Amino acid sequence: MERGAWKSNTGFVLAAVGSAVGLGNIWRFSYMVHENGGALFLLPYIIALLIVGIPILILEFAIGHKMRASAPQSMHTIHSEWEWLGWWPVIFVMFGINLYYVVIIAWCALYMLNSLRSPLPWAEGSEAFFDNQFLRISDSVFVFDGIRWPILLMTVVIWFLLWFICIRRIDRGVEVACKIFMPALLFLVTILVIWGLTLDGAIEGIEEYVWFTRDDLPQLAQIHVWRAAFSQIFFTLSIGFGIMIAYASYLPKKTDLVGSAFIIALADCGFSIFAGFAVFSVLGFMAYTEGVTVAEVVASGPGLSFVVYPEAIALLPGGNHVFGFFFFLALTIAGLTSAMSIVEAFSSAAVDKFGWKRRNVVSVSCLVGAFGSIVFTTGAGFYWLDIVDRFLNQYGLILVGLLECILVIWYYRIDKLHFHLYDANEGGYPPIWDIWWEWSVKYVVPLVLFIILAWSAIEDISTPYGDYPSEAIMMIGMGWLVATFLAAGVFSVYTRHRDNDRLSL
Ligand code: PHE
Repeated sequence: MERGAWKSNTGFVLAAVGSAVGLGNIWRFSYMVHENGGALFLLPYIIALLIVGIPILILEFAIGHKMRASAPQSMHTIHSEWEWLGWWPVIFVMFGINLYYVVIIAWCALYMLNSLRSPLPWAEGSEAFFDNQFLRISDSVFVFDGIRWPILLMTVVIWFLLWFICIRRIDRGVEVACKIFMPALLFLVTILVIWGLTLDGAIEGIEEYVWFTRDDLPQLAQIHVWRAAFSQIFFTLSIGFGIMIAYASYLPKKTDLVGSAFIIALADCGFSIFAGFAVFSVLGFMAYTEGVTVAEVVASGPGLSFVVYPEAIALLPGGNHVFGFFFFLALTIAGLTSAMSIVEAFSSAAVDKFGWKRRNVVSVSCLVGAFGSIVFTTGAGFYWLDIVDRFLNQYGLILVGLLECILVIWYYRIDKLHFHLYDANEGGYPPIWDIWWEWSVKYVVPLVLFIILAWSAIEDISTPYGDYPSEAIMMIGMGWLVATFLAAGVFSVYTRHRDNDRLSL
C-alpha cells in the first residue's frame, strides 16, 4: 500500500500542530480579539475550546484512526450514503479556504521582502500603502480592476512550494517540513514577544488584551461574539476540515489519541494567546508614540496585521527591518504548514477513493488551486476573501462538526469509537474522561453548534453581513458553499457507481 505512515508520534504531533498553528493564530486571532471585545473575547474562546474544540478533535482522530482512511472513505465506512460528508469539507477547504489562504501567505511573503527595503515602502502611512498601493482595492465586490501581478506571482511561488512538499510521501514531505518549520516558528515568535514587551507603552496594549472591566460584560450577550469564538476554534484547530481525520489515519495501531489531542489543542490555543502578546504590545507602543488610546490605533478586519504591525515597525527607533522581516517570516512559515495539510488531506482522499497516483493528484490540485486563487489577487480580492472566509468558516466548518456528531451517534454508536480509543491506548484513560467525552459528543456539542448556527442564520437574514450588496453575499458566500456541496455529491455518486460496477464484474 502506498499510503505511507508517520515516522514517529512526535512527527505526527508536530504535523498536526503545524496544521493547527497557522495564519489563524496571528492574523485572524488578533483581529477577532479586537473586533469582538478585546480581552473579553478570550472567555468565549476558551469555553469554545473546552466544550466543542477538544471533543471534536478527539472525535476526528478516533474516526480517522479507526477507519484508517481519509475523510470520505471514513464516512463511507460509517454509512455508505454519507460519503459526501467526507468530501464536502476537503473540497471546500482545498478549493475555498485554501485559495485565499495561499494569497494571504503571499502577502506575508511580499511584506517580508518589503521589510528589507530602505526606506520602508509604507513609511508614509501603512494603511494607504496596503489599500491603495499594495492591494489597490477596487470600489466594489464586482469591480475587479485587473490583477495585482506581484501578488499573483508570489501566490504561484507558494503553490509551487506546497506542490514541492506534498508530492513526497507524508513522512518525507509534510513531516520533515514541520519538523524544521515548527521549532523555527516558535523561536521567531518568542523573540517577537520578548522584544514587544520591552517597548514603551507595551503595558497599555497588554492591558487591552488581557484585562476587561464590568462595563464590557454586556458584550457577552451578543451572538456575534460567540459565533466568532466558535468559528475561530474550528478554524484554528483545523477541525471540520477533514484534515485531522486524514492525519490520524497515518498513525500506528497503538497510540494515545486523546493525549495527543490535548497536547495539540493546548499548544495551538496557547500559541495564539502567546503570539497575541507580540501583537498587542506593539499596539500599545503605537498608541504611546502617537499619544492616543490603544482602541483608537487599531484598524479592524483582515487588514490588521498588514496595517498596524507594519506601521509600528516603521516607528521603531532601530531594528525595524529585522523585526518586520521576522514577523512576516513567522506568518509565512505558519501559513505554509497549514496550507500543506489541506493539500495532503484532499490528495489522500482522492488517492484512497479513486486509487489515483499521489503525484498526479497533488500536481493537478495545486494547479487548479493556483488558478482558483487568481480572483483573490484582483482588485476585488479583498472583498471576496472577507465574504468567503466568513461563510465557509461560520457556516461550513460548524455545520460539518455538527453533522459529524450526528452521523456517529445515529449510524455508528459513540461507545464503539470510545472503545477504540481505549483499545488504541494501552494505558487506558481516567474514568472522568469517559463520561465527559461521550456526553459532549452526544449532547453538548450538537446542541451548542445547532444554537450557534440557527442564531447566526436568523441574524444574517435580518442584517446582511458587512456593507456588501446582498447579491454578492448570496453569490459568493452561499454560492461557494452550495457549489462545493454539489461537487461533494457528484464525487460520492461517482465512487458509488464505480464500486457497484466493480462488484457486478
Ligand atoms: N488551522 C489553520 C490556521 O489556524 C487553518 C487552516 C488549515 C487554513 C489548513 C487552511 C488550511 O491557520
